[in-house]
Amino acid sequence: MSVTFEYLDVRREGAVEHVTLNRPDTRNAFNETVIAELTRWAGSAAADRTLRAAILSGAGTVFSAGADLTWMARMATQTRDENVRDALAAAECFEALDRLPVPLIARVHGAALGGGTGLAAVCDVVVADEGAVFGFTEVKLGIIPAVIAPFVLAKIGRSAARELFLTGARFTATRAREIGLVHAVVPSAELDATVTRYVQEVLGAAPDALAAAKALIRDVWTGPSPELMRVTAEAIADRRATREGQDGMRAFLDKVAPPWKATT
Ligand code: COA
Repeated sequence: MSVTFEYLDVRREGAVEHVTLNRPDTRNAFNETVIAELTRWAGSAAADRTLRAAILSGAGTVFSAGADLTWMARMATQTRDENVRDALAAAECFEALDRLPVPLIARVHGAALGGGTGLAAVCDVVVADEGAVFGFTEVKLGIIPAVIAPFVLAKIGRSAARELFLTGARFTATRAREIGLVHAVVPSAELDATVTRYVQEVLGAAPDALAAAKALIRDVWTGPSPELMRVTAEAIADRRATREGQDGMRAFLDKVAPPWKATT
């Protein structure tokens, strides 16, 4: 594929595509452009009959710091329709990645936070550096993990979500493996070799059978529906326009404590 992107680095190696989130200055946080590019990439990857596997990683020091909080905060200045439409585009992006007919393997190093954890959740196999940090930090920012919720809940279940969505606490790669978000935790030096081993496994699988097995998982385990996508998109669109949401995101960007920060 010779499509070029602003924030994605796409490199083809035989039947495998390496997709790197390439916005290291903001720790690969994604805004509307990154979302559109990922959706466009997923569309062309899904149509590419020669593609057998894809690897998703992040340039620089982390996998992804999740949603770009400058972008999220800006949405409050839009009309509600625009705000919801924008959030739906994000939901559609996660959906397109989740539905890819080829295995999507995440190579997570540094951190995967908020929507970055959501990106890991739509991957079929997640290999994490033992030092990587995870977290559904949204409530600490006055917002909620909305559009990623259907994909994350399908991976980690309600119990872990209740603890982690409500505390917003950061957690280790080992914990991420315990709750089903991550499949392999390895020292940094073994990250690439472990990803390669998974790629070799899936290259040995019949491509149509593999795609059918992946589709079956969704069919058997009730997946995110268009109605649910609208519910989650409206939930984040409304939330990021609230005073709490605005205050929380601004506090992060200004590197100060949010106004609700309390101590025991
Ligand atoms: N949205 C927008 N900007 C972000 C961002 C985000 N999600 N995450 C990081 N950035 C920006 C920072 O504001 C900073 O900008 P500056 O250089 O203009 O000051 C830059 O990226 C580097 O961030 P910094 O925190 O200094 O990097 P770090 O390497 O010390 O830490 C993280 C990396 C990912 C651990 C840290 O940035 C972080 O915790 N980010 C927030 C993640 C989060 O809670 N995301 C949930 C969003 S839904």
